[in-house]
Order: sequence, then C-alpha cells, then structure tokens
Amino acid sequence: MAKLPILEFPDERLRTKAAPVETVDDEVRQLVDDMLETMYDAPGIGLAASQVDAHRRVIVIDVSDDQSAPLVLINPEYTPLDDEREPMQEGCLSIPEYYAEVPRALRVGLKALGRDGQPYELEAEGLLAHCIQHEYDHLEGVLFVDYLSPLKRDRVMKKMQKRHRAAQPA
Ligand code: NI
Repeated sequence: MAKLPILEFPDERLRTKAAPVETVDDEVRQLVDDMLETMYDAPGIGLAASQVDAHRRVIVIDVSDDQSAPLVLINPEYTPLDDEREPMQEGCLSIPEYYAEVPRALRVGLKALGRDGQPYELEAEGLLAHCIQHEYDHLEGVLFVDYLSPLKRDRVMKKMQKRHRAAQPA
C-alpha cells in the first residue's frame, strides 16, 4: 500500500466529475487500499478518489472510533430517506483545519459496489449519512464550502492560499 498526496482547496482538479468504475479489478482494489491507508494516516473518516487526483467513483469511509470498520463505496448512489435536513459540523481533508455546519439528510439509502465488486445496499443515519453525502459530493466536484455564503467561502480561500504560500520553500 502507499500513502497518496491529497489535493487541497482551491485546487481546480477537485472540481473534476469522477467517471464510473467499469470493472473492479486489481488496479481499483489497489486504489481502494491506498485510499484507506491515506485516510487512516491523515487521520480522517472519509476520502473520495477525487481528493487523491484519481477521478473514478470510489470512496472509502470509516466512522468507527478505532479504524475498525472500513466501508468501500464504488459507483455509489444514495437516496435521502427524510425530507428533513440537519446541520452537522463538517471538515474535509482537502480543506485542513476548517470546519463549518452543513445541512444534510438525516438518513440515506445507499447502493454501491464493495471492494469485491459485489453490489450491496445499506441504510445510514447520523454521522455515516452525513459522511456519505459529503464524499459523494466530491465525486461531483462539489466541496462543503460551496454551501457556505460567498463571504465565508472567500475567507476560507484566503486562509488556504496563505497556508499554501507558507508551505512553499523560500
Ligand atoms: Ni471532503
């Protein structure tokens, strides 16, 4: 396995719409394994392939306390099971050290392929439901800061640009 570099906002590559996976082969399984390692190392609770510049419809999630429940979502589709939206604090490995409340469906029904290429379905609520919606957005080129006011988004942009300048060698 290998740790992959994570793209950071406002990198335009994060705006790429990801393409469906046609066959879950060794190459896709390698991507899944590398993404899990990258997410656990960060550490984070979710990572979309878009964030590691691999524009395929692949997501990994683990909302457990001890990195014991990896969930692999290939070609995921979800349906909100509630009309109600609940705000929850979100962060993103592509927007480090920034958190904001985003309203999302409380419960979703998910259909996806697993790492073995087999289809599965599940119903998710709470943190997992939020996480699925957040990561799915990445596959569409959408970031959680897109839900904020232009003023707030502008502030995040400036903060990130400052961070990137500081990271550059003099
Ligand atoms: Ni994210």
